[in-house]
Amino acid sequence: MPLWNKLALWMAVVGSVTAQTWTDCDPLKKTCPVAPALGTNHSWVFNKTMDDKIWSVTNGRVNWTDSGAEFSIKKKLDSPTMQSTFFIFFGIVESHVKMAKGHGIVSSVVLQSADRDEIDWEWVGYNTSEVQSNYFGKGNDTSFGRGGFHYVENADTEFHNYTTHWTQEKLEWWLDGNLVRTLKYEDAVDGKNYPQTPSNVRFGIWPAGDPKNPKGTIEWAGGEVDYNAGPYTMVVKNVRVHDFHTGKEYNYTDHSGSWESIQVIEGNSTTVEELNKVPPKSMGEKWKELPTAAKTGIYCGAAAAGILLIAGGIIYFIRQRKKGRLEYALDDAKWNNERNEMNNLQTTWKASEWGHKGYQPVH
Ligand SMILES: *[C@@H]1O[C@H](CO)[C@@H](O)[C@H](O)[C@H]1NC(C)=O
Ligand SMILES: *[C@@H]1O[C@H](CO)[C@@H](O)[C@H](O)[C@H]1NC(C)=O
Ligand SMILES: *[C@@H]1O[C@H](CO)[C@@H](O)[C@H](O)[C@H]1NC(C)=O
Ligand SMILES: *[C@@H]1O[C@H](CO)[C@@H](O)[C@H](O)[C@H]1NC(C)=O
Ligand SMILES: *[C@@H]1O[C@H](CO)[C@@H](O)[C@H](O)[C@H]1NC(C)=O
Ligand SMILES: *[C@@H]1O[C@H](CO)[C@@H](O)[C@H](O)[C@H]1NC(C)=O
Ligand SMILES: *[C@@H]1O[C@H](CO)[C@@H](O)[C@H](O)[C@H]1NC(C)=O
Ligand SMILES: *[C@@H]1O[C@H](CO)[C@@H](O)[C@H](O)[C@H]1NC(C)=O
Repeated sequence: MPLWNKLALWMAVVGSVTAQTWTDCDPLKKTCPVAPALGTNHSWVFNKTMDDKIWSVTNGRVNWTDSGAEFSIKKKLDSPTMQSTFFIFFGIVESHVKMAKGHGIVSSVVLQSADRDEIDWEWVGYNTSEVQSNYFGKGNDTSFGRGGFHYVENADTEFHNYTTHWTQEKLEWWLDGNLVRTLKYEDAVDGKNYPQTPSNVRFGIWPAGDPKNPKGTIEWAGGEVDYNAGPYTMVVKNVRVHDFHTGKEYNYTDHSGSWESIQVIEGNSTTVEELNKVPPKSMGEKWKELPTAAKTGIYCGAAAAGILLIAGGIIYFIRQRKKGRLEYALDDAKWNNERNEMNNLQTTWKASEWGHKGYQPVH
């Protein structure tokens, strides 16, 4: 069974609310919404939190660390997964990955389309010297022997370069710059089983050896998971994705699922627009860019505001002692207004980032 189908079944077992997203509209049966394209060539380093308009965490959570995106199984039923919101219609996916070591644990990098064309890299946790390659056309899994097995050293402790090069004629799996497998269109049942529809990029880790899974799956995963020996972590350091088309969207014009039926809608993709968007500057960055004079001004202003507040308080008390009742009431209302204004100012100031980070006492 295709990896991501197994994962979908697993999500159902877990009762994950995101399970629905695994069975999106099937373009072989229905008219589906167009798929957003990537339409460019871009690299992402996963050393900071990614824009969720581009990389969407679909289950569990991803830990963005200096060394990359960490997908961890810490306890029973954990299975963090993430996917691109964009689709590519033939192209290159270059992922630099450390697999998770451990019986029953499966790490994966998957390209998958809405009609279940699938291209896989997968690592089964009991063997840290092996990566498996696989493919499926329209989710057809009737034949065995699709899987390829490739030697790779220390796949759990070292990042390796796993690259998929996908055109309408052939599919190649490259490992650290070496071509390890080629699948030609005609060799996949005359193209019938050949992945050929717009696909998104998915990363995930999964306890395939959970006792709740079918026996066959547990065996394939190298036995049952020992949840006490975890956490089990897959790390994705960076990824480059090159879409061989440069449009805005992909449209299935019929239910054939053939690449000829895919219409490329011209325009700039939303991902390209998102990438080109100048990131809004944080208050901290704005603060850093201010000339020193302006900073001093703000420090002094803040200090002055503080002094005013205190001075105001003292004057208020001195005045109160001198005033009659009516005057007192009137003044009190006025003071309350002023004080509220001051408080609002202060609250706004404290809430702003430079209130926390930029402000330093004036010496
Ligand atoms: C794709 O992007 C990478 C860096 O992100 C760059 O090194 C490479 O040359 C680009 N390839 C093409 C064909 O533009
Ligand atoms: C992430 O990695 C890139 C490329 O190696 C580097 O330029 C950047 O400073 C890093 N960012 C963080 C937040 O570590
Ligand atoms: C995320 O990773 C950092 C650095 O490896 C680690 O210190 C932290 O505990 C992790 N957080 C979670 C929630 O796993
Ligand atoms: C599924 O693939 C097998 C070969 O692996 C092929 O014989 C069969 O016709 C395919 N089924 C469909 C429905 O395409
Ligand atoms: C791990 O995989 C490699 C490469 O396929 C293979 O040579 C080796 O025998 C496997 N080791 C185990 C313990 O299965
Ligand atoms: C990763 O492998 C691909 C395919 O061989 C190659 O084009 C790319 O330059 C490699 N990336 C790095 C960083 O070496
Ligand atoms: C997608 O293709 C169908 C069938 O050709 C067509 O009716 C529809 O208008 C197309 N959608 C877009 C957004 O172009
Ligand atoms: C696409 O983006 C480019 C540059 O950002 C712009 O010049 C062009 O008008 C845009 N095209 C469309 C169809 O929006």
